[in-house]
Amino acid sequence: MARILVTSALPYINGIKHLGNLVGSMLPADVYSRFKRARGDEVTYICATDEHGTPAELAALEAGMSVEDYCTQQYEVQRQAGEAFGLSFDYFGRSSSAANHAMTQHLAEALERQGLIEERVEKQVYSVTDQRFLPDRYVEGTCPHCGYEKARGDQCDNCGRLLDPTDLIDPYSTISGSKDIEVRETRHLYLLQSKMQGRIAKWVAARPLWPSLTKSIALKWLEEGLRDRAITRDLSWGIKVTKDGKPRPGFENKVFYVWFDAPIEYISATKEWAQESDKDWEALWRTDKGADDILYVQFMGKDNVAFHTVSFPCTLIGSGEPWKTVDLLKSLNWLTWYGGKFSTSEGRGIFMDQALEIMPADTWRWYLMSNAPESDDTSFTLETFAGAVNKDLADVLGNFVNRITRFGSSKFGPEVPEGGEEGEAEQALYKELDKRIASYTDNLEAMEFRKAFADLRAIWVAGNEYLQVAAPWVAFKTDPAQAALGVRTGLNLIRLFAVLSAPVIPFTAEKMLAVFGQSMKDTDWPKGTAREELSRLAPGTKYTTPEVLFQKIDDDMLEDWGEKFGAPR
Ligand code: 2FM
Ligand code: ZN
Repeated sequence: MARILVTSALPYINGIKHLGNLVGSMLPADVYSRFKRARGDEVTYICATDEHGTPAELAALEAGMSVEDYCTQQYEVQRQAGEAFGLSFDYFGRSSSAANHAMTQHLAEALERQGLIEERVEKQVYSVTDQRFLPDRYVEGTCPHCGYEKARGDQCDNCGRLLDPTDLIDPYSTISGSKDIEVRETRHLYLLQSKMQGRIAKWVAARPLWPSLTKSIALKWLEEGLRDRAITRDLSWGIKVTKDGKPRPGFENKVFYVWFDAPIEYISATKEWAQESDKDWEALWRTDKGADDILYVQFMGKDNVAFHTVSFPCTLIGSGEPWKTVDLLKSLNWLTWYGGKFSTSEGRGIFMDQALEIMPADTWRWYLMSNAPESDDTSFTLETFAGAVNKDLADVLGNFVNRITRFGSSKFGPEVPEGGEEGEAEQALYKELDKRIASYTDNLEAMEFRKAFADLRAIWVAGNEYLQVAAPWVAFKTDPAQAALGVRTGLNLIRLFAVLSAPVIPFTAEKMLAVFGQSMKDTDWPKGTAREELSRLAPGTKYTTPEVLFQKIDDDMLEDWGEKFGAPR
């Protein structure tokens, strides 16, 4: 049994997440955690909302709420959405928690003791009207290179040049539109990442398990040379800056940068979980307290990789304390909305709450994971979603369950029937399943989700093909014992399908197991041969006929949804 710590990138607090966010981190982390638990490993899956920073302040302003109240409300919305999607967090915390304040201040002070923190004065754009310093992307103006009038302070989207906000002609605040802006001096704490170059390079080289997308992003940053970075901001909502446990002079109106405190919440949330459930958080995070044999796996979208392969490790390693760092990092590309961007700020795409209003969680989970944006970006369309639901779930899996339970109970009563002799049809089934289950398990281990779920689909198909050949409805007329074998094998296939499918469609898996009065708690991942697995339900075991597992999506539904979500035609 392995001990595994899983974290998924913390969803930002400014509104419910869309399907792209879900498949980019939380859903694959959940599938992996469920799979590992089913294999008997001890998994702790931690996540939280990421609550600081300018976007949170602005979203609260727009909602007409205090930022505290806004975050509390949105935390609850996200927690409930996660639960409704079956995300099996062991703990879902908040980066604004007291534990994270303390841990962030502790780590910043530890970094300072290691000589890795320096105060520096820099120039920054200040909006007099908004009474705040403006992060680069909240300043717009005319590009000095191409004349584009809506160039951002960090980059011109028209000519692609990287900019400094002070380069812009006629700059204005995107918050208020005000041109009353000026450049002011401000003092910040810098984390001297340049001093960490050698140590981080050595640490990256010692991560043999990283996939190539992850490694190439980390190496690119190392090749460019690590730059010192400001870890404080002129904001009021956030974690206060301390020195020796007291407010740091000159930093009274400043807080830590959201990207400094957010990953630290992985640790703080674990600590909170441990306090609530009487567990040992240090055994997961401190290598001097037992965490050296932990496998730590992180999940995130590709835009987060640099922060997790360079910045957060600088915090942990630079502190000089024995923190556990990431072993395996699964990063995903983008899910696009008909080839364009899903967008929280513009409300484009389908959001987690809306998704569940129209179809059950497992349909989304199956579609998203079997089309996970792994090697490339993947385009979400309602039509491909309908295809996956109607073909894979309704026709192949749902129909199988319905057909065999109805036929079996009508001919043999509500108990697994006995009789019949195995022949070629069973041998062919065992052979195919042995091969596919091994491949499926290997692919889940390797977090190759698309490949894994192609295997799972093939496993369901193998069951259907077996039924075609065994054809118990035909055999019943001449040889009821042979028909009983077909039904018994079919019922055992339902149980086996449920166990194998549970990581991705957990709600349906429970319904399938309930047919036999079982639950995932009573089962484990197949260890034996397919032949052994298909004899687990002995003759005489009682079963029921479930409701239809998956409703199909028809053209009218597609049309309605297309209008509702503004799908491009
Ligand atoms: O990209 C995002 O949505 C960030 N909120 C992810 C933070 S991950 C971790 F560092 F907390
Ligand atoms: Zn330009």
